Order: sequence, then structure tokens, then C-alpha cells
Amino acid sequence: MKNTVLTLQKQKEEKDKIVMVTAYDYTTARIMDEAGVNTILVGDSLGMTMLGYEDTLSVTMEDMIHHSAAVARGAQNAFVVTDMPFMSYQTSVYDAVVNAGRLMKEGRANAVKLEGGVEYAPHIEAIVKASIPVVAHIGLTPQSVNAFGGFKVQGKDLKAAQKLIEDAKAIEAAGACMVVMECVPAKLAQKITEELTIPTIGIGAGPDCDGQVLVYQDLLGMYGGMRPKFVKVFADAGETMREGVKAYISETKEGTFPAADHCFKIEDSVIEKLY
Ligand code: KIV
Repeated sequence: MKNTVLTLQKQKEEKDKIVMVTAYDYTTARIMDEAGVNTILVGDSLGMTMLGYEDTLSVTMEDMIHHSAAVARGAQNAFVVTDMPFMSYQTSVYDAVVNAGRLMKEGRANAVKLEGGVEYAPHIEAIVKASIPVVAHIGLTPQSVNAFGGFKVQGKDLKAAQKLIEDAKAIEAAGACMVVMECVPAKLAQKITEELTIPTIGIGAGPDCDGQVLVYQDLLGMYGGMRPKFVKVFADAGETMREGVKAYISETKEGTFPAADHCFKIEDSVIEKLY
């Protein structure tokens, strides 16, 4: 059954943890969907994990639409949330609505995600008015990496913690259906989760959020770059892939692949008549 804003909200109310994972293509989306995740995030992290950039800033609307549409084709049941890339909503409320609309129409997303709190409440409100569900993202917001001066835990002192609570409440009041909290101290994330009626999804925000999200290359041991403290590697698919490709290389070089089972047959009489 397709997950919706309503089923995710019900999960919060029933204390049934929401499981979100990233995917950026059809095949991976199918695997995640068959495994039973509730929601798939087409994150702008694809700039790093799929395109090899050093951060998410170069990702374009065209990139997001392309990957989102592929994921949507593979996600039968999972609720697809697609990131609004850097500068697709920061410029104006008008741009935010137009670009959110493109991610829904062309990218076939079920919701859009944007980074920011109080400052983006008017953008969230306008997108929601256009009947587009919005997921907000607070705490460490990677599109602001240059303003933060690096990838750092957020909300650690009183002023910053109070600002995060204000952000979360403003987002909820603006009509967001969910909020992702990244790199937020666990006790602060717990307090925010208790104070909000909408589900909270944590990444580096402790166990008391209503759900968790991880980048799939991180949880499957496939990404060679930095590994943040909050990542747990649940399976070493990277190593499995390397082993598989090494076996393919050696069998091809030895001539044991392809074997008879992998070949198409033709009658000898046909071959004999060839000139
Ligand atoms: O882009 C992304 O993958 C994200 C997650 C890290 C939450 O925003």
C-alpha cells in the first residue's frame, strides 16, 4: 500500500518508527521499496554520492528532476520526497512554488524537502497552499556549509538550541508535514520531537526522533569519502561489488566466462554453409 502524509502521521501517533533512506535511481528505489522502507528521499546528496561533487551546491533542478522521476518509477509503496536544490527556493517565494511544482509534475515526487527554519516559513506556507506537501530540514543544513564554516553539530549552546526549537515550531505552523533534523544533540531532538505534532526524522539526532534517515551508500558501505559519526554500516555492499567485479575480470581473462550456458546456439549445418 502506498505510504502517504496520512500514514506517516499515523506512524508518529502510534509510535511506529518511520524508516527513510535515500535512493537516486530506479533499480535502487525498487530494492529499497521491496525491503519495506516507508519513504525514500531523493536527496541532493546525489551531488556527492552519484556525481562526485565535494558538496551539494552544484546540484541543479534538472539533476533533481531526472533522478526523482527514476526513483518514482521504482517506488511502488514508499513515499517519495525530493530535495529542492540550492538556489531553487532561496531566491523568492515565487521561485519556491514554481520549482516545487516542477519536482512534483516532472519529478513525480510525493513531497518536496527544503532546508531552513523560521526564515523559510513563508516559502513553506506558499508551497503548501499549492497543495504540495513540504518536508523541512533543520540543524546541519548542507546547503549552508559555507555559512556554517564546515559540517558541524548544531544547537549545542542555549541560544542555538532555542533557535532550533523556534525553527521547528515555525515550520510546523507553516504547514510542513515532516521535519528532518541533522546533527542535533539527541536530547534536544527528543524535546523537539515531543513538542511537535508532525513526525521528526533524525540523521545524527539520536534514537528518540519519530524516524531515521540514512544515505544508502553510507549504510551499505559503498561511499569512499568521509564517514560521519552517526553512520552505521549495516552491510558491506561495496566490498561485495568489488569482489563480484574482480571475479568477472579474472574469469574473462582466463576465458572461463562466458561458459556454454551463457552462449546462443546455431546449427553446425548453417555454420558449414557459410563462406
Ligand atoms: O540530501 C540528503 O541526502 C539529505 C539527508 C542527509 C537528510 O538531505
